Amino acid sequence: MENRAEGKGTCLIAGCGYTGTRLARRRLGAGPVLALVRRAVSAEVLIRQGIPAVAADVDAGIPLLALPRELASVIYLAPPAGAGTEDLRLARFLQALGPARPQVVVYFSTTGVYGDTRGAAVDEASPVAPREDRSRQRWEAEGQVAAWCGARGVRPVILRVPAIYGPHRLPLDRLRRSEPVLRDGDSGPGNRIHVDDLVAACLAALDRPVSGAFNLTDGAPESMAAFTIRVAKLAGLPAPRRVSWAEAQSVMSPGVLAFLRESRLVTSRRMQELGWTPEYGNPDDGIRASLVEMGWGNSSSAGR
Ligand SMILES: NC(=O)c1ccc[n+]([C@@H]2O[C@H](COP(=O)([O-])OP(=O)(O)OC[C@H]3O[C@@H](n4cnc5c(N)ncnc54)[C@H](OP(=O)(O)O)[C@@H]3O)[C@@H](O)[C@H]2O)c1
Repeated sequence: MENRAEGKGTCLIAGCGYTGTRLARRRLGAGPVLALVRRAVSAEVLIRQGIPAVAADVDAGIPLLALPRELASVIYLAPPAGAGTEDLRLARFLQALGPARPQVVVYFSTTGVYGDTRGAAVDEASPVAPREDRSRQRWEAEGQVAAWCGARGVRPVILRVPAIYGPHRLPLDRLRRSEPVLRDGDSGPGNRIHVDDLVAACLAALDRPVSGAFNLTDGAPESMAAFTIRVAKLAGLPAPRRVSWAEAQSVMSPGVLAFLRESRLVTSRRMQELGWTPEYGNPDDGIRASLVEMGWGNSSSAGR
């Protein structure tokens, strides 16, 4: 049963990009929403879709007038900025909130905080061991959110998110460029979630009186290679070439290699507290729905 833990005031979606936009559309019916983005052009795109939006670069400081006086909830989806192990962007954002006391802050973290477990399972009780600075920033950011909320009696929710896929977030360009994938045996399990399931989990976190960290996953872990091959099949594109780890060093980008170097199997022991189960527990369904939304196969999708 839904328990509306959010009070009156605005739902501020800070970092309203791919996921935030779909979230805003779903939240609009429940009360006022304000999207915060960095660039004016992003705000214009949102406003054209009927989503109230302001553009302000958190790194440069948010003008006080840009923020609503009364906040019911804050959902923070902006990625950490720059190098280092601290999320200074989030620190600036929390400072800009001043004396605000929303009922809940939802922070989008990543499952990267668990580091590399060589394919072993992790749940919310597993030790955190980030390996890359990007993941260390996330862990540090989780601490900032917990401290900020703790000092104000605000409910903190941390969503640890795996790779997000959905419409316009499928490896179609990589397939069209004939980029190879790691062969079976050289790649560990990867974890994913369809963007609409992520949105539904976030809405559940707003509406239920839960707090703390939640792992999110579609429950269908498979390597990046297996997922890419699945997408190729459903999109009617040629299957990618499989390469060894040794060959991958010379044909894959440093970013992809860093991603592939870590593997873990994300599980959750807290998901049921959200009253949420993924609609796209079968990735074929999630990929098919994404392709349909993109009009894949119609001439209009050819350039995407
Ligand atoms: N993609 C994945 O597979 C994945 C996996 C795990 C976790 N995550 C995390 O989940 C969150 C949501 O992901 P997403 O893919 O939906 O994000 P996204 O589409 O990249 O959107 C990021 C948003 O943050 C805004 N932003 C960035 N810097 C800002 C600044 N200095 N001031 C104000 N706004 C700023 C951007 O505004 P502009 O558009 O105006 O620049 C954009 O609206 C992110 O934190 C992401 O890192 C993603």
